[in-house]
Amino acid sequence: MNQNFEYTEFLKGELSLPGDKSISHRAVMFASMAEGESVIKNCSNAEDVKSTISCFKKLGVDIIEENNLLKIYGKGYKGFTKPLDELYAGNSGTTARLLSGILCAQDFDSRITGDESLSKRPMNRIVEPLRLMGANIFASEKGTLPLVINPSEKLHSIKYEFKVASAQVKSAMILAALHIDDESVFLETIPTRNHTEKLLNLKTEKTNNGTLIYASRKNYPVNFEITVPSDISTASFFIVLGLLTKNSNILIKNVSLNETRTGIIDILESMGAKIIIEDKVVQNGEERGNIRVFSSQLENIEIPDEIIPNIIDEIPILSIAGIFAKGKFRIKNAKELRVKESDRIKAICNNLKIVGLNVTEYEDGFEIDGSISSNNEPIFDSYGDHRIAMAFAVLSMLLEKGGIIKDFECVSVSNPNFLNQLKILGYNSSI
Ligand code: S3P
Repeated sequence: MNQNFEYTEFLKGELSLPGDKSISHRAVMFASMAEGESVIKNCSNAEDVKSTISCFKKLGVDIIEENNLLKIYGKGYKGFTKPLDELYAGNSGTTARLLSGILCAQDFDSRITGDESLSKRPMNRIVEPLRLMGANIFASEKGTLPLVINPSEKLHSIKYEFKVASAQVKSAMILAALHIDDESVFLETIPTRNHTEKLLNLKTEKTNNGTLIYASRKNYPVNFEITVPSDISTASFFIVLGLLTKNSNILIKNVSLNETRTGIIDILESMGAKIIIEDKVVQNGEERGNIRVFSSQLENIEIPDEIIPNIIDEIPILSIAGIFAKGKFRIKNAKELRVKESDRIKAICNNLKIVGLNVTEYEDGFEIDGSISSNNEPIFDSYGDHRIAMAFAVLSMLLEKGGIIKDFECVSVSNPNFLNQLKILGYNSSI
């Protein structure tokens, strides 16, 4: 479905966004592993999280949606039942990779599949380290889905330094480690999102080389109640739109402010963004607060290499901010973007060329220079990638001629209600 977006000059009001996708995936998984009833409030309504829910239902877990909350009746240690057919992870890398860590420790065979995009994404990054822990897990010849997982009697603890800066790899290994009595110790040299560690309350230790993370069966989840904060990655599309729209004053409520996710705010503030964080609190071990955004003049800055994993999902929308900021916008050291839901470096570069910008593509990033010159309403390709679709929807609303996004329905992978949320802020098109 093509979606049209018109130029907008005003944006005002308060927004409550769905729960953080990363935290919601983990909450569903940990509640399914724990024994008895857990309650999840403000769980994400993203298609990706629905994929996680459907996989755990197939593993025998009762999951009920009731009055805006999710009740999960977990099966307890090794209580899952053999699924009747394959576990379909849809578009969700987090589902496929984290689930693998759990399934490696079960006493039955399983198989994980996914959609066309997920079936192209690299899985050896989890297969190889899980095999080092004694797991019987196999990817396709190309190192992709389907993943086949057989029981192993040799699953053992490990001392391991992560080779890729990836919270999904880190979490898959931690989840396998929760099924082993002896303690595993992981060294993370480049910080990535730490929701798994926080929700499981794992012991971590900062050293000169990075952070040590300890996990063993004694950290196996017990049932809990959680209110998931809203998703900062989803919020970032509205933050950038608010900053760049001529007259805006918006408040986004109860957003996750976990320090491994707030790089986008730090960078935008360094670029001159007027953002105020209000009412910051910690709940369920995760920081959260309200974000107020005003129209701002931005200036590009040098983006430090080490912050890339923190902003990895926000680079598409950050690049839109970069176009309207003074000076050149440049991203390097981000080759992980090539293996996301689409090749995001290619997707961003190709779309920006449509509006006449000078774009230089690197293997691990890109540079944008020049100014927008487009006489017609541009048609941007979403590449079936939710974050590309929303980033270019934001760009379209900042262009006098507006813009069209192809295959816009893919936004439901993270935020099915994007269009309604725009309306709440007074976006006045016929959407
Ligand atoms: C996620 C981790 C990140 C991120 C993804 C969600 C998670 O991926 O891009 O959208 O929930 O752990 P990597 O850990 O592979 O970088």
